[in-house]
Amino acid sequence: MSNNQYWNFSAGPSKLPQEVLQLAAQEMLDWHGSGQSVMEMSHRGPEFTQICDEAEDDLRVLLGIPEDYAVMFMQGGATAENAILPMNLIARNASNSADYVLTGIWSTKSYKEATRYGTVRIAAQSHQARQINNVEYAPWTWVPGFDSWQVNQNSSYLHFCSNETIGGVEIGSLPDMAALGAPSVPLVVDASSHFLSRPLDIRQTGMVYAGAQKNAGPAGVTVVILHRDLLGHALPYCPSAFDYVNVAKERSRFNTPPTYAIYIAGLVFKWLLKKGGLAAIEQENIAKAQALYAQLDSSEFYRNSIQPEYRSRMNVPFILHDDSLNSTFLEGAKAQRLLNLKGHKSVGGMRASIYNAMPLEGVMALIDYLKEFERTHG
Ligand SMILES: Cc1ncc(COP(=O)(O)O)c(C=O)c1O
Repeated sequence: MSNNQYWNFSAGPSKLPQEVLQLAAQEMLDWHGSGQSVMEMSHRGPEFTQICDEAEDDLRVLLGIPEDYAVMFMQGGATAENAILPMNLIARNASNSADYVLTGIWSTKSYKEATRYGTVRIAAQSHQARQINNVEYAPWTWVPGFDSWQVNQNSSYLHFCSNETIGGVEIGSLPDMAALGAPSVPLVVDASSHFLSRPLDIRQTGMVYAGAQKNAGPAGVTVVILHRDLLGHALPYCPSAFDYVNVAKERSRFNTPPTYAIYIAGLVFKWLLKKGGLAAIEQENIAKAQALYAQLDSSEFYRNSIQPEYRSRMNVPFILHDDSLNSTFLEGAKAQRLLNLKGHKSVGGMRASIYNAMPLEGVMALIDYLKEFERTHG
C-alpha cells in the first residue's frame, strides 16, 4: 500500500521518509534473517546492539559529533528532558542556577519546569509586542537579538529553544558565549523540531536534545547529545534511569530503551546520509520554505507574521484574512489529500510543518491549493 498521494503536514508525530517506512515494512517480521522482528529482540543481544551502535555512529557522522560528547537515546520526550536536564546540570555550579531565553510556548515550558530544581533566571524574552523597523510584532513572533541576552557568568547553563514548533520561530545560529560575557556557561538547546534539518556545530554547545517525532523518527525516543565534562552533577533525587552518567556509560542501555523507535530513527539517519547529509537536506529545506513563504507573502489573503529573519523553515503558521473560512479551507485541503494543516489551538489559523521527509512536490501541492483557494474565495 502506498500513501504517496497524501501530503501530511502534521507538526509531530509527523511524516517519515517513504523509503524508511517501506524498508521497515520489509524488515518488520524478520530483521536481516535473524528470525525476529526488531520489536522482539533483546535490547542486549547482538542484533539490537548492532542497530543501536550503528544509529549512534550514523548520528555522529551526520552532525560531526566528537567522542568527548555522549550520545544518548532516552525516553519521556522533550517534556521529560525539560526536567531531566536541570536534575543533571543545574547543580554543576555552586549557584545552583540556570538562565533561560523565552521565545515562545516551548521555551516557556522548559523554563517553568526548571524552576522546580534551582534558581532560574530569564536572560531574554519576547513575551511582549515590539516594534522593529516600524513593524509591530506580537508576543512570541520575534526574537531578542543575541547581544541583548543577559547571561549570568555563574549560571550552570543557558537554555534556549532553537525552533518554536507552535510559534514558527527559528533561531538558526548559536550565540557566542564569550561575547555575552559568560564563556564558561554551556549552551543547552531544545532543537526538537528542526533537529537534523540543517548543520549544527555541536562543539559550540554543552547539550542538544530533541524529541525524535518531528524530524528524526517516531515518538518514543529523545536524542540527547551531551559534553562529557558536564556529567556527574545529578541531584541526589534524580532517578537512576535519568542520571546521564548511567545512560552514557551504558550507551543508552542502562535499562530497556525504546528499541523500535531507535531502529526507525537509525533508518532515518541512514536515509539522510544517503541524501548527502545535513548540508544537502538544508538546501532542500531552504527551497521548500522559500517557495511557501513567497506564496503566503504574495497577497493579503494569507499572512505569516513572524519577524522575517526568524521564520521557521520547518513550521509555517499562517492565518487566512477571514477566519470564518478556516473550516472550508481545511475541508478543501483534506479533499486534495493535504492533511493536518490546522494550527495549534493556542495560536489558531493554519500551520504547515514541512520537515525533512516532506518533498518539494508536497509543498508545491500545498501552494497550488493555496492559490486555488484564494482564487475561489478571495
Ligand atoms: C520544541 C519542542 N519542545 C518540546 C516538545 C515536547 O515534546 P514531547 O511532547 O515529546 O514531550 C515539543 C513538542 O511538540 C516541541 O515542539
